Amino acid sequence: MSKAKKEYSRITTKTLAEMKAKGEKIAMLTAYDFSLAGIIDKAGIDVILVGDSASNVMAGHETTLPITLDQMIYHATSVIRAVERALVVVDLPFGSYQADSKEALRSAIRIMKESGAHAVKLEGGSQIQVSIERILQAGIPVMGHLGLTPQSIYKFGTYSVRAREEKEAQQLIEDAKMLEKVGCFSIVLEKIPAQLAEQVAKSVNIPIIGIGAGGKVDGQVLVLHDMLGMSKEFSPRFLRRYLDLNESITEAVSSYTSDVKRLDFPNSKEQY
Ligand code: KIV
Repeated sequence: MSKAKKEYSRITTKTLAEMKAKGEKIAMLTAYDFSLAGIIDKAGIDVILVGDSASNVMAGHETTLPITLDQMIYHATSVIRAVERALVVVDLPFGSYQADSKEALRSAIRIMKESGAHAVKLEGGSQIQVSIERILQAGIPVMGHLGLTPQSIYKFGTYSVRAREEKEAQQLIEDAKMLEKVGCFSIVLEKIPAQLAEQVAKSVNIPIIGIGAGGKVDGQVLVLHDMLGMSKEFSPRFLRRYLDLNESITEAVSSYTSDVKRLDFPNSKEQY
């Protein structure tokens, strides 16, 4: 059992607040299925995000927009079945919360009730404040998401770094303060200058989890398939690859194919 596992039996939103207070960094990864969620939970990850990046990674869409609430619930349910320790946060997908706060609450309730998840994440600041408040009032923990918010990709027109300009940076700081004030337990900051992320982490008491936001925040998140090296194409500066799974899978599948074709598999010990 890892050191982290001994110290915290089940990670809750309160555990994350304690970690920030102690200066202990939070490690978060995405997962969308039972098998990988079980592995990363046992390996000691603190937070598992059932991200709407499933739309890209699992379904092969170009953006996160097409994934539906039902599909997110399917992924979340599979993850929850495997997880014993990590806090599981689920993205509200595009179109499930933007219309009004009633719809946002209904979507969040469906995720919590049908999947057994522990919290939800929504992209945006002041424009969705009422929806966030309504979800929080129902007792559902909310993680915010500011900076590059991929559900708005057609508004931004690019996946490049956000909030380089003073006006956008100021708005982001205000949004982070608002998210803390209304009761969010944490905020993801995606692809913003490291200095700005550090400033945000210092100006709020809730944990700031960064992706492409530098090291002076309270934790880091990466898309699991990216850090495992599943894809060769996606190579942003912030991504560190811990495995070359693409290469390993290619080698394994090509060995298997050749073994089958040259009648090497199965051998006499691999049959009944
Ligand atoms: O959907 C996702 O994977 C995310 C992370 C990039 C934070 O929102």
